[in-house]
Amino acid sequence: MAGGSATPTTDVLEDLVRTALTQVMDPEIRRPITELGMVRSVEVTGGTGGGARVVVGVDLTVAGCPMKSTLVKDVTAAAQTVPGVDEVSVDLGVMSAEQRTELRTMLRGGVGEPEIPFAKPGSLTKVYAIASGKGGVGKSSVTANLAVALAADGLSVGVVDADIYGFSIPRMLGVDRQPTRVDNMLLPPVAHGVKVVSIGMFVPQGQPVIWRGPMLHRALQQFLADVYWGDLDVLLLDLPPGTGDIAISVAQLLPTSEILVVTTPQVAAAEVAERAGSIATQTQQGVVGVVENMSWLEQPDGSRLELFGAGGGAKVAENLTAATGGPVDLLGQVPLDMSLREAGDAGTPVTLSDPDSPAAVALRGVARSLAARSRGLAGRRLGLSPV
Ligand SMILES: Nc1ncnc2c1ncn2[C@@H]1O[C@H](COP(=O)(O)OP(=O)(O)OP(=O)(O)O)[C@@H](O)[C@H]1O
Ligand SMILES: [Mg+2]
Repeated sequence: MAGGSATPTTDVLEDLVRTALTQVMDPEIRRPITELGMVRSVEVTGGTGGGARVVVGVDLTVAGCPMKSTLVKDVTAAAQTVPGVDEVSVDLGVMSAEQRTELRTMLRGGVGEPEIPFAKPGSLTKVYAIASGKGGVGKSSVTANLAVALAADGLSVGVVDADIYGFSIPRMLGVDRQPTRVDNMLLPPVAHGVKVVSIGMFVPQGQPVIWRGPMLHRALQQFLADVYWGDLDVLLLDLPPGTGDIAISVAQLLPTSEILVVTTPQVAAAEVAERAGSIATQTQQGVVGVVENMSWLEQPDGSRLELFGAGGGAKVAENLTAATGGPVDLLGQVPLDMSLREAGDAGTPVTLSDPDSPAAVALRGVARSLAARSRGLAGRRLGLSPV
């Protein structure tokens, strides 16, 4: 456009459109596209008294970006909110390698090399590792439900499926796509408002993962450092059962993470769960609390059938209080509930699909007690021991 030939009106319209575009978030990075350098151009033609045509040039982070249509829809809707704009079209392009490097550096806060943001001093993200002694007690179900419940309450939440061999989080949260790769940075898919990464997104369906300890460690490190998590309030890690390699890696990579122990009411299960929790004393991690799952089955007459016995959760909480020296509370008892399993299989956790079911009410209660532990350094172990 030649200097001075544009009418003030098109200039003003262009400014207004650019301002409107600050409201459009990249669906994966979740920051305004204007900040991310994705808006290449805004051209306004015609219609000084209304009926202007706008062409917005948008550069995608990668060609074939899976969120392309969402972006086009959001950009169009935002530009159309500007009075006088009649027609909007979006001209899609792709960032150059140079622009991508710039973006990556910006997202990492100016730091070029990957590091784990949650392990940095001053990180305000609460990190909870969901652990159990035995398999199949409901860790993944608890993780998926707490994540979506916390996100529904307005918190910014991420989930790392750290169960490398037995990953189940993608199904439970209904995620079926891979993270988008921007060079060597991964943008996690978002499901029900939660950012999710799992090894299940990288291996062909039906194929087992056969890795040894060091590779598990490396995979976990990548999930934490190479993924763009943004500013999270809470990060949940779904651990494999027991006290294996991954639990140790978590303690090493994320020393300020706290453990949430899941157990059933059965006394035998409780004893094993306690062992998982008391690792914390060796790794200097805190134990945030205990969740008892499969506590009872409500009968049609309202009575409770205690299929797996009673008292396991309270016993684990009591013994971990003694072992760790801090108060470890029983944060909730989640009944057996068919809707919980069905919702997990269908990819929308029960706290969203059937929020008033007894299991959902109990899980939302646990989420609320975690949310109440305010963001920041309060309640965090400082790694000091009395002399
Ligand atoms: N309260 C509940 N009511 C009904 N079904 C449940 C309940 N909790 C968990 N389940 C079901 O039990 C099975 C095991 O749960 P889940 O996968 O969450 O356990 P896990 O501890 O993560 O298992 P693993 O140790 O294999 O990772 C799943 O099919 C799940 O749907
Ligand atoms: Mg699991």
